[in-house]
Amino acid sequence: MSGHNVWTHKGTFLLAAVGSAVGLGNLWRFPYLTGENGGGAFILIYALTIFAVGIPILIAETMLGRTSRRSPIMGMRHLTKTHRTSRAWESIGWLGAASAFLILSFYSVIAGWALHYTWLMLTGSLVGADAQTISDGFNALLASPRLMTMYHTLFIAGSALIVGMGIHKGIESGLRIMMPALFVILIVVLIYGIINGDVGAAASFLFTFNIGDLSLEGWLQAMGQSFFTLSLGMGAIMAYGAYMSSDASLTRTAIAVAFVDTAVAMVAGLAIFSLVFGAGLETGQGPGLMFVTLPLAFADMPFGALVGGVFFILVLGAALSSSISLIEPVAAFLVERFDMTRPQAVTIMVVAAWAMGLLTVVSFNVWAEGTIFHSLFGRSAFEFIELLTNIFMPLGGLMIALFAGWALTQSEVMKELGTHPTWFALWRFLVRFVGPAAVSFVFLRTIPQVEGYLIPTLGSLIIVAAFAIGQRLRHSNPS
Ligand code: PFF
Repeated sequence: MSGHNVWTHKGTFLLAAVGSAVGLGNLWRFPYLTGENGGGAFILIYALTIFAVGIPILIAETMLGRTSRRSPIMGMRHLTKTHRTSRAWESIGWLGAASAFLILSFYSVIAGWALHYTWLMLTGSLVGADAQTISDGFNALLASPRLMTMYHTLFIAGSALIVGMGIHKGIESGLRIMMPALFVILIVVLIYGIINGDVGAAASFLFTFNIGDLSLEGWLQAMGQSFFTLSLGMGAIMAYGAYMSSDASLTRTAIAVAFVDTAVAMVAGLAIFSLVFGAGLETGQGPGLMFVTLPLAFADMPFGALVGGVFFILVLGAALSSSISLIEPVAAFLVERFDMTRPQAVTIMVVAAWAMGLLTVVSFNVWAEGTIFHSLFGRSAFEFIELLTNIFMPLGGLMIALFAGWALTQSEVMKELGTHPTWFALWRFLVRFVGPAAVSFVFLRTIPQVEGYLIPTLGSLIIVAAFAIGQRLRHSNPS
């Protein structure tokens, strides 16, 4: 027996999964990547992957956690045994752990920026400030490795405390208030943007789909973002799935998570770009986008210091509930595998991610250019880590889809999903063919030497067909 406990309340998984999904990915990363990639085209790929690939994989990943009732790595090992399939699938767990570690390293640094802005808001330092002052202030933060390291340390230590003491299951009531509050305050900012900014320009920027606008790497970023925002392909959802009650509906829960997550990203995007266009700011200014535009609105709004302070506190809460879901799978593994205590396991994961995070810290100042990362990969360490996660998460998701759709004994999967046979057939078609083909397509499309759409289309079909035939043969002569 795994000794895993199960959340007593049926809705807890939903809340925890929303807590994991909604975070800096929606508020900081989505707007900045959309801005850098020219708007609508990016959103189109992002939205398509969420619905055709993300939701089915979200269902699959939750299911893997719930049937195994173990931490991701041990759970995968267990499933390969009980379903008598290749041990190689265990790599899903390892790849996930690697992604979690990489993401946590930079996530905490960015959350540190939110900590800085919470402080600035609550002390009223930015009241009445103009665009120049605010952007100078942000640049000053970036220029200070000391300040950034301090905030990074505070944030990661806070997350570690919550997971280490095992109280993350108790933050349920906090999330119940925080998530709706975050949404309400985003709406307030959006209304401010509608009145004082240019919501028309924002809407046409976000919803004019001209696919030719998207660069090759833009494709990868859009797909990576859809996995990132749903916390997919890296064990977080699997780890939470392990605690999910057996009576809750997997499909309904997954659809609800994706819906809420997308709604938050869209409202944040609309609000931020209304302000960007209203104030004549740069759409493609990169990772600082949210931290430069929103304080500008709060500087001018009545009670802005208070509204801004509450806003950034909620951002921090959303970031915390995501970062604890990055720590959980790796910590749970260390506990199960090496019999460590929870605090020991969390300390190992967090200290390593903290040290790795220093690479992100220096990417914005002392190592902003001229490093080995720039000469080898043409980008900073932070951008390189982001690129890796944009590859690892979809790759993990692809493997999860194939594992759930082909390698597991399907009669048991059907039982676990417990949906109507038609829905089961639809889900299985999506994880068997559509998800893997879409992810392979984007990977192939991103290779600069492969031009146009024909080769990626054919290539992805061939990959999926080869896999399908291989699995069929394997199942028809079990030896
Ligand atoms: N989904 C989170 C966000 O959008 O901020 C980030 C994240 C959390 C990614 C947990 C992956 C993960 F496992």
